[in-house]
Amino acid sequence: MKISWSECLCLILLHLQQTTRFEVLGPADPVVAVAGEDVVLPCYLKPNISAVDLHVEWFRVQIDNPIVHLYRDHEDRNENQVPSYRGRTSLFPEELKKRNTSLKLYDVRGSDDGPYKCFVESQEWQDDSWINLRIKAVGTQPLISIEGYKEGGISLVCESKGWYPQPQVVWMDSEGHSLPAGHTETHTDSMGLFTVRRRVIVQETETNRFTCRVRQQQINEMKETITNIPGELHIFSINKRGCSGAVDSAGACCAAGINSLMEAQHITCLNYCE
Ligand SMILES: *[C@@H]1O[C@H](CO)[C@@H](O)[C@H](O)[C@H]1NC(C)=O
Ligand SMILES: *[C@@H]1O[C@H](CO)[C@@H](O)[C@H](O)[C@H]1NC(C)=O
Repeated sequence: MKISWSECLCLILLHLQQTTRFEVLGPADPVVAVAGEDVVLPCYLKPNISAVDLHVEWFRVQIDNPIVHLYRDHEDRNENQVPSYRGRTSLFPEELKKRNTSLKLYDVRGSDDGPYKCFVESQEWQDDSWINLRIKAVGTQPLISIEGYKEGGISLVCESKGWYPQPQVVWMDSEGHSLPAGHTETHTDSMGLFTVRRRVIVQETETNRFTCRVRQQQINEMKETITNIPGELHIFSINKRGCSGAVDSAGACCAAGINSLMEAQHITCLNYCE
């Protein structure tokens, strides 16, 4: 068989291309992680070539200075990584040989939620893949506080901490009807998790039973606390003694028994004294 020079060159180029080209692949579905746990963001090369001599770079998508983890010239180079990722990332050194460029992220937080880019570069070629990380965190049992008489009713406050994504807070009466309530105050803590607080003014009812429900539909989680306002509460309005706790039926500062009853129901009493 005779091969011309040009055919030969063409074959060589084709061969070169086949050995230097690669694809970077990741999961199509989001990776879900529970706040506080560790997670692997999967990423690998096709065909099965070693990534040891390549650059492997992980970025946040759509933020400024988005470096999450850099591996270049056979070393991790994380001097310029986003500070919130410091000490929380690693590749799998043994796995790099086997095309595996996955990232391990330790102790995940709310702020880690979002899309990531796994970028791999050789001298001749580069490719990337996007991986979506979804954080979920189920917050604390809602805590109901009684603020005392306000605006012609009893003011109750419900608070729950440590949610991701942001949940909704609903107040309900004993029949399960939602009650008109104030706006929900929201804060994020140092881990990027949400604290929510919502106040309602209720009228005393026969049952004096109210429910605070905190719910996150995307992760299908819900927590609720039901409170029975103790009958003793009706004398709160006449308490002028400046007690720091609850008040007994004589209007004196709180008996220990009432305080512990309230604790058992996740109720605390706050500044209802004048
Ligand atoms: C890729 O190649 C390495 C060694 O060359 C081998 O150990 C590994 O099992 C291969 N991986 C896959 C997914 O074929
Ligand atoms: C890459 O390595 C990690 C950690 O050992 C493993 O969980 C993951 O399944 C590996 N992925 C591939 C494509 O081999």
